Amino acid sequence: MYIHSMLNAEVNEKLAARLNIPVKSEKDGEPAFTVIVKSSQGGIETPTPYITNPKKTVVIAGKNDEEGWAFAEEAEKAGLGEEQIFFMPVKLKELVEVISRLMEADGGTEDISWSTDTVNETRAKTIAVAGLRGGVGRSTVAASLADYFKGIGEKVAVIDLGSPPVVNMHFGIEAADETRDGMVVLKGDVDIYVPETGVWDYPSDNLQKIVSELNLQYRRVIIDLPPEPRHQHMEAINLDCLVVVFDYDMILSAKPAAAVQGGIFVYNKAVPEVSQLLAASILGDIEPIVIKMDIEGCNAALSDNKPAYVYSEAVAQGIGQLAARIG
Ligand SMILES: Nc1ncnc2c1ncn2[C@@H]1O[C@H](COP(=O)(O)OP(=O)(O)O)[C@@H](O)[C@H]1O
Ligand SMILES: [Mg+2]
Repeated sequence: MYIHSMLNAEVNEKLAARLNIPVKSEKDGEPAFTVIVKSSQGGIETPTPYITNPKKTVVIAGKNDEEGWAFAEEAEKAGLGEEQIFFMPVKLKELVEVISRLMEADGGTEDISWSTDTVNETRAKTIAVAGLRGGVGRSTVAASLADYFKGIGEKVAVIDLGSPPVVNMHFGIEAADETRDGMVVLKGDVDIYVPETGVWDYPSDNLQKIVSELNLQYRRVIIDLPPEPRHQHMEAINLDCLVVVFDYDMILSAKPAAAVQGGIFVYNKAVPEVSQLLAASILGDIEPIVIKMDIEGCNAALSDNKPAYVYSEAVAQGIGQLAARIG
């Protein structure tokens, strides 16, 4: 499934990230949706030949002038509604909203007031991984989750606010490609962003800016948090989902975790010796995702610079469940 779009490559990339579906500038079989653009250099004179399914098409008719109106009229004749025709300048957000609504309006069973929600809003995009004690497995979970999403074809950024940052070691990425908003960018299977100054001196304004920019460029933005993140940093990011990791250390890790509201909980390094009763007495109603202790798998992965997800069955199982819970 893909969208055929005549917009420029940069905009197509943004559309793909927001809609979570490939956007191609060339036709490659029957597209699920078509974005027709009147070329300012002449090029396409009329949209008609490109409209194969008027319910799955939008037209950008160039400027709001006579030429544009003529183009729009052709589109209307071919069966497009008024809301499917845009004039320049077009707001990306509006385009995304209309496309996602029309794409979801299959078969007429969907309630339109529901489906005006973009994919963006219904699926978690910015995900932070917290854990209230050092060494509980935040970075292990963050790197593995990133690798999982990457593996199902999603474009993933990791912001490594760990102290010290280690996520790059899980991917064997060493060299920095560029710096951006005070972050070093390490590009690889997933792109990793690390504050140049270390997390404690990193300005929260910059964090806010880079998280919202990365949201446009990536399908997932995963933030590996330090054990006690700065209050200002947490305020600066607009989270879709908070993952809270704890381990067998019930007092130092599970107790503070259980006090967090509204997270998805991961009981990592779970060991049978810690009785269900003890865990239950601390966790109450919280139903965590369980990742069993697997020292061999985790160490083998680390020494090969791979996320634990790749080598450890226990981690892979838990991460699959976590991804499903995140949505
Ligand atoms: N499920 C697990 N079983 C065994 N060891 C684990 C597990 N999860 C993480 N570890 C190990 O625990 C150590 C700390 O993990 P890490 O993810 O770096 O923690 P944090 O980011 O919370 O400080 C690492 O050596 C890692 O390999
Ligand atoms: Mg860490």
